[in-house]
Amino acid sequence: MTSTQARTGIQVIAPGHAEIRSDIPYPRLRPDYVIAEPKAFALNPTDNHHINSLAGTGPIIGCDWSGIVREVGDNVTRFKPGDAVFGVCHGGNAVEPEDGAFADIITAKEHAIMHKPESLSYEEVASLSVGLATVAQVLYVVMNLPLPSPNIPANSDPTLLVYGGSSATGTIAIQAAKLSGCRVFATCSAPNSGLVQSRGAERWFDYNQPDFVQQIEAVGLPITHIVDCLGNEESAVLCSKILAPAGGHYHSIKVPVPEPFKRLRPEEKAVATTALGYTMFGERFEFPGVAAFPADPVMEEFAKKWVLVGEKLVQTGQIQPHPVEIRGGGLVGVLEGLQEIRTQGPRGKKIVYLQE
Ligand SMILES: NC(=O)c1ccc[n+]([C@@H]2O[C@H](COP(=O)([O-])OP(=O)(O)OC[C@H]3O[C@@H](n4cnc5c(N)ncnc54)[C@H](OP(=O)(O)O)[C@@H]3O)[C@@H](O)[C@H]2O)c1
Repeated sequence: MTSTQARTGIQVIAPGHAEIRSDIPYPRLRPDYVIAEPKAFALNPTDNHHINSLAGTGPIIGCDWSGIVREVGDNVTRFKPGDAVFGVCHGGNAVEPEDGAFADIITAKEHAIMHKPESLSYEEVASLSVGLATVAQVLYVVMNLPLPSPNIPANSDPTLLVYGGSSATGTIAIQAAKLSGCRVFATCSAPNSGLVQSRGAERWFDYNQPDFVQQIEAVGLPITHIVDCLGNEESAVLCSKILAPAGGHYHSIKVPVPEPFKRLRPEEKAVATTALGYTMFGERFEFPGVAAFPADPVMEEFAKKWVLVGEKLVQTGQIQPHPVEIRGGGLVGVLEGLQEIRTQGPRGKKIVYLQE
């Protein structure tokens, strides 16, 4: 495809409705960006949030992708045409509508792309980037834990619970927290206990058991850090009981912090936070009619540092992808898959589509 040709992608046409269009202009080649040809796409709950309300009309949606670099912008130093990569795009971006990943040609920012290791397939790495960026922001910026390092003693401090440990965000959070020296506990349903343990959870608790909060207490280790990957009212109530009586840090992956948490744990020493991964792009963005966000240079600087750290962790197998369910069907499949996860989200796996 040449820069004079139209491309095909999934565009929000009206709130609640996205469709495949084949008249989308070829993307601009901005200085900090590459142009790439995707080979696989992974679905995220946020893709549907964009379609439903957050993107306005016009943007291409999609965040997680893997593929091959075709062109590089003037400031790009880490990639060249032909490189096999995986990354995250700012899908559903009302300010830069051309930025989504679900298209046959895409544009992606250098500091949101990593080199694909030969040991992993395009399908596997497509599942990684949203999780990696989200978790890094939570653990290393918001919670201020140390970046993974071989010098940090394993299973030491603090004791961190990943609530929803079998989610795509959760399995990355378990691995990263472990590499940062935490003692890591996780909650999940029983069928996913093997998954969270395989990613490094020292103990797991079934949140379908009525006494699971007491089971956690019975271990006798105060939980001072919680990453809540569900971030709903029910999880917030339970996490308010799990967080150590002396206080600690509760983080809801879902924005905003669910109301019950601060009502039940109003003390200053019970810190409650949330954050939006999109700030890592370091550019202004908005959810039309809802909220606008200025560029965040602190998050951008961190993202530039993290992309090198995270890439190494994936290259060396210290961070493994979430299990993937691979499907054919390209962009048509993606659109059907997004419809499917509106009613029934995946459990313990990420849905990935091969581009055709
Ligand atoms: N702030 C940000 O920038 C940001 C970034 C990424 C994601 N997010 C948000 O984070 C959330 C998680 O995303 P994700 O992709 O990691 O999720 P996911 O992989 O789709 O999560 C699926 C897991 O959630 C658990 N689950 C589903 N329904 C449940 C229920 N009713 N009760 C208890 N557990 C349930 C299941 O665990 P079991 O089968 O083991 O029960 C399942 O394995 C989403 O809301 C997403 O929008 C926010």
